[in-house]
Amino acid sequence: MKQYDYIVVGSGIAGLYTALLLKEQGSTLIITKGNIDDCNTRFAQGGIAAAISEEDSPKNHFQDTIRAGDGLCDEEAVRILVNEAPDRITDLVNFGVPFDTLNGEIALAMEGAHSRPRVLHAGGDATGEHIEYTLSNEAHNSKIQVLEDCLATEILIEKGRVWGVKALDCRSGTIEEFRCRFLILATGGAGQLYKFSTNPEIATGDGIALAFNAGAEITDMEFFQFHPTALRLPGVTPFLISEAVRGEGGVLRNVKGYRFMPDYTPDGDLAARDIVARSMLFEMTKTVSEKVFIDITHLSASVITTRFPSIYRFCFEHGLDITKDLIPVAPAAHYMMGGIKVNTWGETNIAGLFATGETACTGVHGANRLASNSLLEAVVFGKRIAEKIKRGDKVETRSDSKITEIHHSLANRQVSKMKRIPNLAALQQLQWEKVGIIRNKEDLTLAADTLASWQELLPQPTDRPSCELHNLVLTSRLMAEAAIIREESRGAHFRSDFPQSSPLWERHIVLTR
Ligand code: SIN
Repeated sequence: MKQYDYIVVGSGIAGLYTALLLKEQGSTLIITKGNIDDCNTRFAQGGIAAAISEEDSPKNHFQDTIRAGDGLCDEEAVRILVNEAPDRITDLVNFGVPFDTLNGEIALAMEGAHSRPRVLHAGGDATGEHIEYTLSNEAHNSKIQVLEDCLATEILIEKGRVWGVKALDCRSGTIEEFRCRFLILATGGAGQLYKFSTNPEIATGDGIALAFNAGAEITDMEFFQFHPTALRLPGVTPFLISEAVRGEGGVLRNVKGYRFMPDYTPDGDLAARDIVARSMLFEMTKTVSEKVFIDITHLSASVITTRFPSIYRFCFEHGLDITKDLIPVAPAAHYMMGGIKVNTWGETNIAGLFATGETACTGVHGANRLASNSLLEAVVFGKRIAEKIKRGDKVETRSDSKITEIHHSLANRQVSKMKRIPNLAALQQLQWEKVGIIRNKEDLTLAADTLASWQELLPQPTDRPSCELHNLVLTSRLMAEAAIIREESRGAHFRSDFPQSSPLWERHIVLTR
């Protein structure tokens, strides 16, 4: 059996960055289910937030993050995030990430719910792509071993401690076991849960399912962020229209051309994402339409094409000249705030098991993530995982959070005798309709019952698609169960039957097997 000091599962920014640090401390293997650059990071447009300008401070960044998180951020984790941000940006620059500059200084953009420009970007709107390629090149040229087309299927544990991982070779269909001292899950998000999503095909909740099945605590699953502005064109997969487009001056208009956001909130087009997404939905219902528009036609063509080259190109290839045409948009599933519960060193409740990036829940996002804080979270907490392992001190399974928790295992559900084996499209439709932007008890219960029935019905997985479907169904179930339990509205979780926030719910829901 092959043996490593560290095995990192996943090859987006979180996995690569952590592995690049760990390789200095011992033998390191990355396993990834596609090729090394198949990840969500590559699709991040807006950028990475950090208070690096003289007009800004970590304190301001802290306040904006806490405000967006709507009462559920872990303040200690946020303090770490904003204070360590400038040093991690320096690390990325040293790795060679080519952040855009203006007059010799790193250029900073504005995004929704930030009180000042603080978002670094690269290649205009190709930030994630530049970060991913820089780090994956570095990994290729290092002593890190990378195993592609390899999907982790089970965490191996003995006497409460991780000793390895089982993985499927997606090409041959064989299962292999790998031994390690520490296992780091960095498998990304779960946008494939939804019919409309900005995420690529790889985002199937693998880490959540692996960790939950191994006995890890999963938290905040009711909070899934919908990006307000994904391109909505018939027959075209939703394509992200970065929040930076509104940061640059873009405004939302309904199908009648009316600028509606100021009617909903004084923050207007740059309000937090959950508020913009819901306002758009109300406006779409009012005007009986499936879309609204972003208007940037008042910006100069050269600003548009240099600042947003990828968006300009994609829209142009689909018949829209965004220097002249309005951009049709609608909300789409974008980012999972919940995940594997970790402390501020990335540790889970299982000795030797760490998690980082979107699959982890450090508590920095609370109920709603501030734009461009997620790439940052991946590098800040990736660094802390490497530090913690290097120091080798006793594993801490305590939580650093001051917010109380309620613990649940999965409810017993009414399982019906279905005959038709579920498929991905049915799951995505169910999630979109019943566990979407606006929820209620009846829909959520129906979803949870259906998901429980599907869990019983699904045959043993044998290949990548069937493993992914298992992972998605379990992740959906966790999301639906948490959304049923939280009888209030907060951040990205909106219950039409409980439309207000309640101080009684300033607590986290933690789910265990
Ligand atoms: C965007 O560019 O709007 C997405 C960035 C993010 O989700 O942080």
